[in-house]
Amino acid sequence: MDSGIYRSRLGKPLDREAARFLSSLEEDSEIFLEDILGSEAHAIMLYEQGIIGRGDLEKILRALEGIKGEWLRGKMGLKAEEFEDVHEFIETRLIEMVGLKVGGKLHTGRSRNDQVALDIRLRIRRYLLEIWNELLNLMEIILTRAEEERDTPLMLYTHLQHAQTGNLSHYLLALFDHLSRDLERLEECYRRVNKSPLGASAIGGSSLPLNRPRVAELLGFDGVVENSIDAVSSRDFALESLSISSILATFLSRVSEDFIIWSSSEFGYLELPDQLASPSSIMPHKKNPCILELVRARAGRISGLLTASLMELKGTPTGYNRDLQNQKQLIFEALKETLAILRIFSKVVKDVRFRVERMREVISESYAPAIDLAENLVKYLGISIREAHMIVGEVVKVLVEKGMGMKDLDLNMIKEVSRRVLGKEVDIPEKVLEVIKEPSRTVRMRRTIGSPNPNEISRMIKDRWKTLNERKKVFQEVSRKVHESEERLQRMVKSLIGQGQSK
Ligand code: ARG
Repeated sequence: MDSGIYRSRLGKPLDREAARFLSSLEEDSEIFLEDILGSEAHAIMLYEQGIIGRGDLEKILRALEGIKGEWLRGKMGLKAEEFEDVHEFIETRLIEMVGLKVGGKLHTGRSRNDQVALDIRLRIRRYLLEIWNELLNLMEIILTRAEEERDTPLMLYTHLQHAQTGNLSHYLLALFDHLSRDLERLEECYRRVNKSPLGASAIGGSSLPLNRPRVAELLGFDGVVENSIDAVSSRDFALESLSISSILATFLSRVSEDFIIWSSSEFGYLELPDQLASPSSIMPHKKNPCILELVRARAGRISGLLTASLMELKGTPTGYNRDLQNQKQLIFEALKETLAILRIFSKVVKDVRFRVERMREVISESYAPAIDLAENLVKYLGISIREAHMIVGEVVKVLVEKGMGMKDLDLNMIKEVSRRVLGKEVDIPEKVLEVIKEPSRTVRMRRTIGSPNPNEISRMIKDRWKTLNERKKVFQEVSRKVHESEERLQRMVKSLIGQGQSK
């Protein structure tokens, strides 16, 4: 590194080792385009405010577009020992192209502190929009499958032991509802990310007549991060993006775990499509759920990145500190992983084959309808749930001892047990017993809101389609706004450059 554009006060060039240690240039490739975008908006505002002249603006914009072109054509190597970061790199290149007198004006009223905060917000915005889109896509796939699996019974587990009889569609709707909340969190978070910090300068604002709302408008932000100290010091918007990613990934990791268990020979509830399964190098029969295991592992990594991020921030005093630079890698890696997890998970849900017969078989052999029987004793006989629990618990014990299942239940057995346990004989309608004896029908007895009763499932599916369509509209509106602002800015830049050429 020779002296560089920033080192006017320092006698010696930066030590090469120190430069490599210090530089964020390599990870800054993530924000290269954002830096150009922010610079163009800033330059236009400087011109509109009469801070720089029209001719200077044109030269600056033309050079920035040139640098963007070089970057997009892959013509630029970023060498950590040569520059501290992308900001120095681009400004140096600009000055090389248009000279110090003009190129040196771009940084007017700007510090790298508000500049990098802006770049990170723009980049996170782009990631969040992608995650948002993928999340909606996954929700749609899940809902479609929930619709297809309305008649598929599913054992529900607590402690990974048979709990209550259920339904696969109901399970898939549970996934949908969790993802709806992930979506809400994302929508909320996006609102806080989508604010412009530019114009905060190093920390205390500028004595030049900058127009902060105008820069925000040019970049498609919903306003500015008002307080200049807050604008450069705070990274809660990044922590929040990381937190929601971590919550989402943790959830998908749990569902992956369900699917991994369900794909085992012992469960046999599902089969991954061949194109998503991995073989073994030695065991020819293998069909491993490796991608789901990696979802699980990477969810752990995302939480690790969140923790690292929190730890890096907790000791930084108010204001910009170089620690903040380290955040970028953590944030971008976590968001990239989240996106990858979402994409792969959508593929799994779309093409996984649920083995309905096996699910049916497990339910038919289960004692899980015991709770439904107990509740029916309460309902028909007015006895307490505790008494009903005692009777049914004893009934199940007898069945297990005799190697029998719920299908072998008969009224006499219940009467005999209740005489023994309660000292009185209880009786329930035959039609109730018929349902209990056919466990997959027991979900019809559930009456509570949100239960797997088929009517409830139908109602929820209908309601969730409505929710999904509403949320899609919100997303389309938000992403349209961003796209339009990007196109508008690009058109503006082009026309300003074009006018420059015709002069
Ligand atoms: N490379 C730095 C970062 O990513 C840019 C800001 C540097 N600011 C400063 N005052 N040294 O955070």
